[in-house]
Amino acid sequence: MKKSSYTVIDRGHISNDFRLISNKSKNPVYLTKWKKSSGEQTVAAKCCHHFHEDEAAILARLNHKNIIKFFGVVLPTSIGESHIIVTEYAEEGSLHDVIARHCEHWPEYMQIESRWMKWAQDGARALQFIHQNKYQHGDVKSPNFLVTSDGTLKICDFGISRKCELTISTVSNRGSWPWMAPEAFGSVAYDPQSTRKPCKVTTKSDVFSYSIVIWEIMSGQAPHPGKQQIQIYKAVVERKERPQIPSHCPEHQQMSELLNKCWQAEYRSRPTMDEVLQTLLDIDKSMRESTCITQSINISN
Ligand SMILES: Nc1ncnc2c1ncn2[C@@H]1O[C@H](COP(=O)(O)OP(=O)(O)OP(=O)(O)O)[C@@H](O)[C@H]1O
Ligand SMILES: [Mg+2]
Repeated sequence: MKKSSYTVIDRGHISNDFRLISNKSKNPVYLTKWKKSSGEQTVAAKCCHHFHEDEAAILARLNHKNIIKFFGVVLPTSIGESHIIVTEYAEEGSLHDVIARHCEHWPEYMQIESRWMKWAQDGARALQFIHQNKYQHGDVKSPNFLVTSDGTLKICDFGISRKCELTISTVSNRGSWPWMAPEAFGSVAYDPQSTRKPCKVTTKSDVFSYSIVIWEIMSGQAPHPGKQQIQIYKAVVERKERPQIPSHCPEHQQMSELLNKCWQAEYRSRPTMDEVLQTLLDIDKSMRESTCITQSINISN
């Protein structure tokens, strides 16, 4: 059955066995089963206390291998029940959780089969596709990237996504502070409760946030750990501080150049996601070529 622009799943087709995956966010997410005529499928069920039709409608429209697959929405059958967004289940959890699980041996872990480069490209492809479809994700951060059992990175959580180039005017839908582009802070930083001045966010705000995610993938660290919102504002907007890629990281110089372009304060000067992906592909190519040369030198010796 279709409701406006997304599929509706009958409540009776979802198992009553709900296992909590995450309750750190606004909306608890569970692991459960979807009973289909072809058999049972393990799925993720996000119970939305404040359901935004757009979240489901946008996700339903964006079919891409690096975007979490949307199956449908279970509508509430009585007062007090939540809408449930049903998607593919990502077995490894969020990128944020994967980094936390492996942080002690991150430099080795992220270099296995150049995992860091694959994930950087996966994420760039997801955002490139979202932008090609004229949307801005709006909340790009490592907790909103998921890792499936085959090691693919997929973006999720379109809770504050919107058509590009819109001016927004509330505090709650600007994004998440440690990943936010300077323009997304607007003038709310000092008094978030009373100030509701609009700020302009665009696809280039996603580019900024994505560069922080690439930095997390490379460094295994979290942005602005333990800092209050006002401290983040002062560091990012006033002092224009940016993270450093640790010197042991692969392709240090080229990746630093790319990230320096992506997290510029002036949003118009940042590259598009097409350009970010192309630069990653070029760095990947030169990395492979130098590995081949090293291998052939080793063989000839
Ligand atoms: N399909 C999925 N498979 C596995 N884990 C998932 C899935 N969807 C969500 N999660 C887990 O649940 C967390 C929260 O999901 P999501 O970001 O969609 O919720 P939210 O309430 O909108 O979060 P936010 O705090 O960003 O507003 C994710 O960070 C991830 O750990
Ligand atoms: Mg989220």
